[in-house]
Amino acid sequence: MESFETKCSINPGPPPVPVMPPFYYTPPPYSGPSAEEILYLREKYLIEQPPYYEKPLNLVDGKMQYVFDENGKRYLDALAGVAVVSCGHCHPAVEEAIINQMRRIQHTTVLYLNHTLTDYLEALAAKMPGNLKVFFFLNSGTEANELAMLMARLYTGCNDIISLRNAYHGNGPTTMATNGLRTEKFNIVQTGIHHAMDPNPYRGVFGSDGKKYAQEVQNIIDYATSGKVAGFISEAIQGAGGVIELPHGYLPVVYEIVRRAGGLCIADEAITGFGRTGSHFWAFENHDVIPDIVTMAKGIGNGCPLSAVVTTPEIAQVLSTHTLYSTFAANQISTTAGLAVLNVIERENLQANAFSVGSYLKARLIALKDKYEIIGDVRGRGLMLGVELVTDQEEKTPATEETSAILEEMKEMGVLVGIVGLYLNVLRILPPLCFTMADADFFVDVLDNAIWKITHK
Ligand SMILES: Cc1ncc(COP(=O)(O)O)c(C=O)c1O
Repeated sequence: MESFETKCSINPGPPPVPVMPPFYYTPPPYSGPSAEEILYLREKYLIEQPPYYEKPLNLVDGKMQYVFDENGKRYLDALAGVAVVSCGHCHPAVEEAIINQMRRIQHTTVLYLNHTLTDYLEALAAKMPGNLKVFFFLNSGTEANELAMLMARLYTGCNDIISLRNAYHGNGPTTMATNGLRTEKFNIVQTGIHHAMDPNPYRGVFGSDGKKYAQEVQNIIDYATSGKVAGFISEAIQGAGGVIELPHGYLPVVYEIVRRAGGLCIADEAITGFGRTGSHFWAFENHDVIPDIVTMAKGIGNGCPLSAVVTTPEIAQVLSTHTLYSTFAANQISTTAGLAVLNVIERENLQANAFSVGSYLKARLIALKDKYEIIGDVRGRGLMLGVELVTDQEEKTPATEETSAILEEMKEMGVLVGIVGLYLNVLRILPPLCFTMADADFFVDVLDNAIWKITHK
């Protein structure tokens, strides 16, 4: 790899156009509707936000960390359907397990016995620390967080829940209320939800001093509640908020404060779970805490709609008084997919790969920050990374338009990435965990090229 200094001295002009790493797979020709036809029908019939890109992409094939458009053009997928495709697109082992199960039986509900659920339960329970041993399965991250907060309220007999500013937990009534971004909530009635100051090392008033931010949680309990709370919910790395890693020392103090007020601590691992952050299987483990309830979604099923809530048998007791049922949850297909994902993560050392490739990618992004004023911050862990773009390093003015232009340029060069943050000025990198060093190099070279183009117009 050419070093940054070498590049600059030899080549002061635009960086060379990067060449995508070779790949073994070519998809079959596509003969379905074109992007224009699909867009027309979506606009006519679908209630939705507009898709990414001025010319939205029609993705028709995928293989591992790559996706292909209708013309067979290959893209490096650094977003993975927003952290969902954890093992890789159409991973052969996940695909085979699902197809084999489809041929036997697909769905009966938990009203009947079947081994796919119990095989999965045993494997997933082995991943949990402490007494987090009993699960309830659902279909989405929203549902998992809704149930987690319901359980906290039932268990404690309290209503107040503390969330963080800049958080995202879903789009149900309670989860939407806990969201700490104006862009992620409608004008709903929010009862019993309090937002503590987000511990943001880049923009926050206390920098990386986790303990100072933690005091804000105590302040909320003292000044905005009866002194008792149902619980506290947070991501260990805020995703939609712009890939903000909670500073060290924050969660242990907050958990202690919340528990002293009678509350339960909920860790939302929808994005961060399943080895994505590299150093640990769950991101909360990096903070030396054990939550009372953990929610998981997205990468759990590599694309199968599946989510779970895990807690202690004692807390789970609160659900025994009424019927709680979710029709599709834990059916044979989703539990088969879930088990296949765990097996692939283990067999292919995907967590270790997330650590090594993620660390390398982050180091290269930090080096790129020295080259371009527009890069305000590079952060994250493993294969959950963020690059915040600003027009002014001192003022940290969000470079919203430039971020969007960079997204477009990267797409042209064959890289798909996300945009997040309140000001949509953070590139978010959440590739499948099979991302390689060569992919990391290609990603950074493409970003280098895109930033150069945008900043030299
Ligand atoms: C941290 C976090 N929690 C919960 C959710 C909600 O998950 P879902 O979209 O599956 O309902 C998301 C979705 O982006 C998320 O990022």
